[in-house]
Amino acid sequence: MQIGDIAQHDGQEVTVRGWLYNRTDKGRLQFLLVRDGTGIAQCVAFKKELPPEVFEIAQELTQESSIMITGTVRADDRAPGHPGGFEIGITHLELIQMADEYPIQPKEHGVEFLMDNRHLWVRSLRQWAILRIRGTIINTIRNWLDEHGYLLVDTPILTPAAGENTTTLFEIDYYGEPAYLAQTGQLYNEANMAAFGKVYCFGPTFRAEKSKTRRHLMEFWMVEPEMAFFSLEDLMDMEEQFISAIVQTVLEKHRMELDILERDTSRLENIVPPFPRISYDEAVERLKQRLEEIDDPERKAELAITWGDDFGSPHETELAEMFDRPVFVYNYPTAAKAFYMQPVEGRPEACRSVDLLAPEGYGEITGGSERIYDPELLKERVDEIGIDPENYAWYLDLRRFGTVPHAGFGLGVERTVAWICGLPHIRETIPYARMLNRFYP
Ligand code: 4AD
Ligand code: MG
Repeated sequence: MQIGDIAQHDGQEVTVRGWLYNRTDKGRLQFLLVRDGTGIAQCVAFKKELPPEVFEIAQELTQESSIMITGTVRADDRAPGHPGGFEIGITHLELIQMADEYPIQPKEHGVEFLMDNRHLWVRSLRQWAILRIRGTIINTIRNWLDEHGYLLVDTPILTPAAGENTTTLFEIDYYGEPAYLAQTGQLYNEANMAAFGKVYCFGPTFRAEKSKTRRHLMEFWMVEPEMAFFSLEDLMDMEEQFISAIVQTVLEKHRMELDILERDTSRLENIVPPFPRISYDEAVERLKQRLEEIDDPERKAELAITWGDDFGSPHETELAEMFDRPVFVYNYPTAAKAFYMQPVEGRPEACRSVDLLAPEGYGEITGGSERIYDPELLKERVDEIGIDPENYAWYLDLRRFGTVPHAGFGLGVERTVAWICGLPHIRETIPYARMLNRFYP
């Protein structure tokens, strides 16, 4: 039996294989909290009902010892566990290994200690809840796109040129040539878009971010849909459907995990289309109005803004707080965004870009745009970013052979997990975080 299915086994004799999560010693009664990866169940060893040598093992079990337990499932409202409400009366217990003294105790530990022991920390209840939700988010992303006519077409990780900007590249040596870890699959996605219409890539991406924030990883997972003949409006329509489906699926499948995380789910229930849409111009106006109401000079300084500035996280948080669901901000200043974005008609200082800002201070979770499809204009912009144009010859080719208006975006998986789970820091949203000062274990 898998503990996750315990409710379907009421009254039955079952065998559970797993690890001892915690033990409460009540003398003749040993309450063993056993986890098997799918859940945690209370298993009760009663001295009177077991051979002495078996009860002795139960009494001595150390945290994380591996065991095999046979017993009878019975409903009991008071029984703790995930899912709770059932316990197992032990009739047999076999020890696989008595674990060494386990470094992670039920007491509180510092984050650095826990990150050093991440290979063990992933067994803890909160981490279990977070990573199961992550799994469902990834699964829902794939299912939704597959069901809506998008084809998964993989893009390379070892690339000859920058995909996004030149300041956050991880350079490696490729048989004597410089190569870079992909910051995005987008440019290849655009080639694939012209072959398949609606495509997506989904994989790890790499940014040598020099900043140490609660939103940045050096290695993060991004899903990037790219669609032929899509406008910015089409893009926003699609994004709000897509993101709502992700949130609603997590709510449907993971009440137990969200409860473990003490997530206020009322903030997630109303994540349904339509999402508010404001232009960058309007966003700046709203921030300026807000500034007039603020007295605190420190807060005023971090929120100060003039047209042309990119938003920092204080701006994003302030804007998001004006709405009860994610908000689209579109038409950012061209200078603040990547080279491939289509200019706004008659207004080249702004571009047809759109970011989605999550509520509750989680900031930008998607970034996307219409792409430049005019060959000449794109060539100019490639020259501007200052990397060998030869490496972009293939990308420019795409605009020579049946160029079409198109658009796409990237959704960062870890920021999405942080938001949905309500976590203060992105480091717990990925099994093994790569950060400015950490890539162990
Ligand atoms: O806005 P970004 O940089 O967009 C792109 O890379 C485009 N090429 C995507 C596209 O249009 N196909 O990144 C997209 C998203 C961000 O909104 C954010 O959620 C996430 O990727 N992201 C990061 N997540 C964690 N750590 C980082 N260092 C991140 N940088 C971006
Ligand atoms: Mg962005």
